[in-house]
Amino acid sequence: MKKNIKPKIAVFPVAGMGTRFLPATKASPKEMLPIVDKPLIQYAVEEAIDAGIEIMVFITGRNKTSIQNHFDKAYEIETELERKKKMKELDLIKNIIPSNIKCIYIRQHQPLGLGHAVLCAKPAVGDNPFAVILADDMILSSEEGCLSQMVNKYEVINSSILAVEKVKTENLNKYGVIDGHKNKDNDWELVNIVEKPNKEDAPSDMGVVGRYILKPSIFDILEDTVQGLGGEIQLTDAIARQIDIEKVYAYEFKGKRFDCGNKLDFLKASIEYGLNHEELSKELKNYLKSLDI
Ligand code: UTP
Repeated sequence: MKKNIKPKIAVFPVAGMGTRFLPATKASPKEMLPIVDKPLIQYAVEEAIDAGIEIMVFITGRNKTSIQNHFDKAYEIETELERKKKMKELDLIKNIIPSNIKCIYIRQHQPLGLGHAVLCAKPAVGDNPFAVILADDMILSSEEGCLSQMVNKYEVINSSILAVEKVKTENLNKYGVIDGHKNKDNDWELVNIVEKPNKEDAPSDMGVVGRYILKPSIFDILEDTVQGLGGEIQLTDAIARQIDIEKVYAYEFKGKRFDCGNKLDFLKASIEYGLNHEELSKELKNYLKSLDI
């Protein structure tokens, strides 16, 4: 069977206000918050690289410089580390992004919503399928990364795909919630999607998390999408209209997701990543055991 074209471009909307994490996010984007020793955005970029993405498009806001600097060459610190022969540390900062990967930065001048942020990527993405990664959603998976799993699906179905997971009823009003039915491959064929419904109106218990592969037809729809919930241009509203014109699927990924824009999940992610970290795992485990709680 002929394989469909894999997405080569990923869009990282990083222009949100991060109000749930103030004051930490007052002067720097929440995507720069570190889990153990790397900022959230670096984990997201690594997941994209593992999935075969070659062009990273960052939609930045008012505090963009730290993200750009993180992925850029850092002459001063590199020279200093070289002089001190700290080669291990030098390697950690030199090879954050392989040389074949291109980074593009686009400014979202006002935080008008996730849908608007994605629309800002149109000049860089053009008529290609593309991934969207929300870096504050971290997905820990023991085998393949979440985006790789989705790219594999995309190669077969050649349609937009949203990552979903089961959500507790009381939390459905924080998610885009899908309506559809499961097909023989265990994927959801969507008939609708609703942004942050009341639990009484939620069409299912499956919420969308921060990984998407989208067909470029979404751009024309977004251009025509008016402000929705919270006065924002909602990606969910545009996807609901895409469902009316072409097939859109939802995929229940394998892995454990942490909403790191939320303080408690951020702490949980720090602990779990710490427990998986080869230098820290043993001592952290002992420390946690020693806590009298
Ligand atoms: P969130 O809904 O988490 O909003 O955005 P937020 O502003 O980042 O955080 P809170 O809720 O105020 O604490 C989901 C994703 O969309 C991006 C954010 O950076 C985040 O990755 N986003 C949101 C934009 O890039 N631009 C926007 O206008 C809104």
